[in-house]
Amino acid sequence: MRNLGRGSRTAFAVTGIPGGTDDVEAALLRTRLIEAAKEFSGRGGPRPLTVTVTNQPRGAAAESGPRAGAPTETEAEAEAGPDEPSIAERARRFTATPPLYTFDRLVLPDRTLDQLLRAVHTVEQRRVLFDEWGLREIQPHPGSAINLEGAPGTGKTLAAHALAHRLGRPLIPARASQLESKYHGEGPKNLAALFHAAREQGAVLFLDEADALMSARFETTSHGSEHAVNAMRSEMLTALDSHEGLVVLATNLVTSYDTAFDSRVWHVRFPAPDKAARAGIWRRHLPEALPLAEDVSPEGLAGVDEVTGRDIRRAVIDAAAEVLRTGRPRVGQADLLAAVERIKAGRPCRAAPTPMSMSGGSG
Ligand SMILES: Nc1ncnc2c1ncn2[C@@H]1O[C@H](COP(=O)(O)OP(=O)(O)OP(=O)(O)O)[C@@H](O)[C@H]1O
Ligand SMILES: [Mg+2]
Repeated sequence: MRNLGRGSRTAFAVTGIPGGTDDVEAALLRTRLIEAAKEFSGRGGPRPLTVTVTNQPRGAAAESGPRAGAPTETEAEAEAGPDEPSIAERARRFTATPPLYTFDRLVLPDRTLDQLLRAVHTVEQRRVLFDEWGLREIQPHPGSAINLEGAPGTGKTLAAHALAHRLGRPLIPARASQLESKYHGEGPKNLAALFHAAREQGAVLFLDEADALMSARFETTSHGSEHAVNAMRSEMLTALDSHEGLVVLATNLVTSYDTAFDSRVWHVRFPAPDKAARAGIWRRHLPEALPLAEDVSPEGLAGVDEVTGRDIRRAVIDAAAEVLRTGRPRVGQADLLAAVERIKAGRPCRAAPTPMSMSGGSG
């Protein structure tokens, strides 16, 4: 970060966002840098501040300097867009698939499961509640989406499939980063197309990395990408308000969402599995056909802590592969324990999610 200090105005130029970074991520990065620069300059007194964040090389950034509101080249290209596909054409890119998992595979604390099912019910019944029973008078923007928040590997994607299965509907999975094309301004159209596809195919919409679409609004839209993110969020609000079907969002972060989403989104927090939950998850990951030794005990395996459901799935597969590779007939407790310890040891260091207590098993 460099202070270009022009007259009484403080101007920062920040360079270094890697060229390949996708647009939504780059925009979020920019906001954080802008916030940091604001905070930094705040300490030096209340002077006007301009911040430019760019992935141009340093020299180029210095020449162009801060350029509030200047459209980027890519924006201009998007505006011209002669062969632009229609929303319906874009919607064909999103195909619904049958759900892969059912609720009996999902292990969650009773409280979380109950929260999830009640949220789904309220979203599913919003026409009756808010239109027929008049609740729109007191809440003009009823909840139309469920946001699953939790650490990686805690069962959010599994839950989205299970919900679609329970509703007897196919699922359209999509990622926020997949919606932004290299041309700025395409994101909102792709998002509209995604909702269109869900409507046309009667599908549950599952939108991963949703934090990128709902984080707090950019106050200054001095750069094209911030503008693009604000446009995405506006489209998201419009789409949620007019959509009838179930929308499941997922995120690893519990971030500061724009307050506009407060009434529209139900938040369900997926905890890291505690011991009882781990035992349930181990049990569900030992298929009947898997040749197991007598000593295998899910309760014993659950004694290994700080593992997610995804770690457990990997451990079972690793252990089975190792047994097969070494020409032994059965997978034993020691194989599974060794595998899960290998996975824990090979994991990049990160703060372990805090376990929440679980009041009995769930199915
Ligand atoms: N709560 C759980 N109950 C049962 N199995 C689980 C649970 N959590 C994870 N698993 C197992 O781990 C696999 C991966 O989990 P999943 O993809 O649902 O995690 P996620 O929360 O969506 O992670 P990410 O944030 O990385 O997308 C599941 O298919 C399942 O085999
Ligand atoms: Mg997932």
